[in-house]
Amino acid sequence: MSTLAGRRVLLGITGGIAAYKGPLIVRELTAAGATVRVVLSRAAAEFVTPLALQAVSHHAVGVDLFDPTYEQQIGHIELARWPDLILVAPATAHLLARLAHGLCDDLLTTVLTATRAPVVLAPAMNTQMWAHHAVARNVAQLRQDGYHIVPPDSGELACQEVGAGRMPDPPELRLACLQALTPPILRGRRLVITAGPTAEPIDPVRFLTNRSSGKMGYAIAQAAALAGAQVTLVSGPTALTAPWGVQRVAVESAREMRDAVFAHALQPGAQAHAVIKAAAVADYRPQHVADQKIKKTPGPMSLPLERNPDILGELCDLPAPQRPLLVGFAAETQDVERLAAEKLQRKPVDLLVANRVSGPDSAFGADTSSVLFLTPRESLGWFGPAPKETTAAEIVRRVALLLDARPAGDDAP
Ligand SMILES: Cc1cc2nc3c(=O)[nH]c(=O)nc-3n(C[C@H](O)[C@H](O)[C@H](O)COP(=O)(O)O)c2cc1C
Repeated sequence: MSTLAGRRVLLGITGGIAAYKGPLIVRELTAAGATVRVVLSRAAAEFVTPLALQAVSHHAVGVDLFDPTYEQQIGHIELARWPDLILVAPATAHLLARLAHGLCDDLLTTVLTATRAPVVLAPAMNTQMWAHHAVARNVAQLRQDGYHIVPPDSGELACQEVGAGRMPDPPELRLACLQALTPPILRGRRLVITAGPTAEPIDPVRFLTNRSSGKMGYAIAQAAALAGAQVTLVSGPTALTAPWGVQRVAVESAREMRDAVFAHALQPGAQAHAVIKAAAVADYRPQHVADQKIKKTPGPMSLPLERNPDILGELCDLPAPQRPLLVGFAAETQDVERLAAEKLQRKPVDLLVANRVSGPDSAFGADTSSVLFLTPRESLGWFGPAPKETTAAEIVRRVALLLDARPAGDDAP
């Protein structure tokens, strides 16, 4: 996954009511490490002041094409060459129309036409405007021309109508920028990813679980979506919010997780190309689930357990035409190399990611981890310590390479 650290982003703001969020977008992008310059349309300057945007971006703000002072600071062609990416948020119906027709009647449209940087457009407008056939036609044309369109959210709009047209919030716009900068190495691929712990009920108020936070699986799901994959995230109970651009399926127990994984991985006509099993699935569950809360009694108590389904094992046993590319995880408290190699013997996944889950560098709950990559043929060595986002991007890179290396005709999945 690429990051925004060190990237140059030109933020174009046009004259919609959502222009008031401009300073928040600048803050979001600069907090992610980007350098941001801002260009406003004349209409946008009616909604948000150049001074506010100059204060948060620490750069002069361009409005007029024929402003000699600004043109002397950075000429419009220089400005078009400067960014790694241009984000226009909000993009008015008027801006979409001008861009679709190559009109260059202000600084922003001239820069947009002169740039070679990827351009992300976040249209925002009244619902009827968004539904207008001319707007729809212009958006279709812009998509075809290679612009990245962030579809507006639905909700209550400033005009008090309810419907599509609301500009997504700054964190979502940041992720859209990141996606436009990330090579689409998983475009056209369907991935099922599991994450988090499972919760195995004992009675209506108690359950058995483990310390998995879900961060690794969520980071992989986010990295895969940014790389263009269609991602279904089957998640046990976690405190995390669903990653952007990912379909999350919430489950609790190992059996629910198994059913969800198989339903999505083997969906007729839309089988998964790869399944990444990052969840910490409970090996055992209570043999009986009490209908009522179990009361305490004097003396010790025992809780008979029985085996849960072995989801990865079942996936490994699938016949070749149905078997997606499989990535397994091994969480060990000791002797990681040996135990991971043994797991690979028992479960011949295409890629095994092993990590330590005890001691000071435990992966559980942490934001960083070190992982050992193994394939059935060889150990690929340790990766990290690195933030889980970086490890996730490395896993996605390896999955893309493995999928690309699969024989032609083996594509579905
Ligand atoms: C109060 C107000 C709010 C507006 N909000 C929007 C909007 O959300 N989206 C939009 O496309 N146009 C909106 N407009 C219309 C644009 O400001 C108008 O089309 C203008 O010409 C856009 O110019 P620009 O694209 O150069 O910024 C609004 C106008 C007013 C007066």
